[in-house]
Amino acid sequence: MADESKKASSFLKVDWNGLTSEAVGPAGLSPDDLASLKGPLAAALKDVWNQRKKGKLAFWDLSADRRLAQESKKLAAWGRKKFQDAVVLGIGGSALGASAIFTALKPLNHNRLSDKKRGWPRLWVADNVDPEGFAALLETLDPETTIFNVISKSGATAETMSQFMIAYDWLRKRLKKPTLADHLLVTTDPESGVLRKIVEAKGLLAWPVPQAVGGRFSVLSAVGLVPLALVGVDVAGLLEGAAAAAADGLKPPASNKAAILAGLNWLMAAKKGRGSLVLVPYADSLAKVADWFNQLWNESLGKAHKLDGSPNQAGQTALKALGVTDQHSQLQTWMEGPQDKTVMFLGVEEFRTDLTIPAIFKEYEALAYLGGQTLGSLLASELKGTAQALTENGRPNLSLSLPAVTPQAVGYLIQTLEMATAISGSLYGVDPLDQPGVELGKKFTYGLMGRAGFDDFLSRYEQGSRARKKYILP
Ligand code: PA5
Repeated sequence: MADESKKASSFLKVDWNGLTSEAVGPAGLSPDDLASLKGPLAAALKDVWNQRKKGKLAFWDLSADRRLAQESKKLAAWGRKKFQDAVVLGIGGSALGASAIFTALKPLNHNRLSDKKRGWPRLWVADNVDPEGFAALLETLDPETTIFNVISKSGATAETMSQFMIAYDWLRKRLKKPTLADHLLVTTDPESGVLRKIVEAKGLLAWPVPQAVGGRFSVLSAVGLVPLALVGVDVAGLLEGAAAAAADGLKPPASNKAAILAGLNWLMAAKKGRGSLVLVPYADSLAKVADWFNQLWNESLGKAHKLDGSPNQAGQTALKALGVTDQHSQLQTWMEGPQDKTVMFLGVEEFRTDLTIPAIFKEYEALAYLGGQTLGSLLASELKGTAQALTENGRPNLSLSLPAVTPQAVGYLIQTLEMATAISGSLYGVDPLDQPGVELGKKFTYGLMGRAGFDDFLSRYEQGSRARKKYILP
């Protein structure tokens, strides 16, 4: 752990000059604002450290246990010989993390490479129940060379269980030999839930989701590691980076990146009306990290009530974008629209591949400067230029950067953002681990789908829909 901590500073740089009043004027944090953070941030850190000690923040130490990495590597060696496609059936915290890390760490064209070049199965994360999407995915798969990893901590999520039931039946009807258990891996609660019962009844191979680890904090457990190992991601490297971050999360606030991210964003929301936090990766490989972070920040911090039951009047909505693509769609409003956002860039110092722009069309002054430069340097300049433009326009922004998109750096980033979320929960005084706001919609869905015990919700829906007839344009 100590050695990993020494290397840690190179995994993630945090530059928050653009949040200060010195840089962006009154929209930024003044020295007094910053001084006011010291007490609450120290208290929040102490609180999360205590919760961790009591086992309530078990995600913090997932990287300390390397056995799963070894076991999943064995599974991967077996799967590599047998399968061309691995499909994750899951949603929310059971899907977004694997998708983010797969996109970050495998070549962006992994799923399109020939079997020989790819060397590992393709990965598909089926995190929706759109019938056209799911049918289209199944249509491309060969059951003999496909493995499904159904992931649901509760084992009851309607979306995941529907996908699972379809996939189960699809395999049962198509496999030449009755070897269903070889094509299904289940990741679920070690003891409870209907999926656990099915595992036992059908003799399926199962991996546990640690009970004290919530969905959106679970990517470094079997939830993420099993599918990632199956497609050849270096899960040991990922855990190495995460362990370094976990150790850094125990440092005092001034040198603790997770605490700084939590504290500064909390101040921006509470004192500067910055109710939105836009995460903008400037790398296609990190695009899905923004999707994953969206869920983590929003589901953890968007709460009606504080832990003491009082109304929670503060908060921050995470939004996602992609550089440079969204410079041509969202940047205008970041620059001149409502003064309600903090922009958090996520850059990469060195791309794994770069392309040189050929030195042609020199006779055109508007193009001549591009020739001989690389796309990587263009992307990096666009990030720097956009950050500077926002700063000059009095728009608060900060920049995270990875030296390169390596397993260690991605592990460090993921772990840091998870810890920042937990620390933010403590600063806002809310429970970052629950999601009461999503339950009511689920109950209406159960009612509409005829689940026993949810008739009341069907009646309430019908009453509501009668009342809603007035303003429909057919
Ligand atoms: O973060 C969470 O807890 C949720 O997003 C869950 O991951 C999501 O609802 C899926 O739940 P489950 O894994 O129980 O199917």
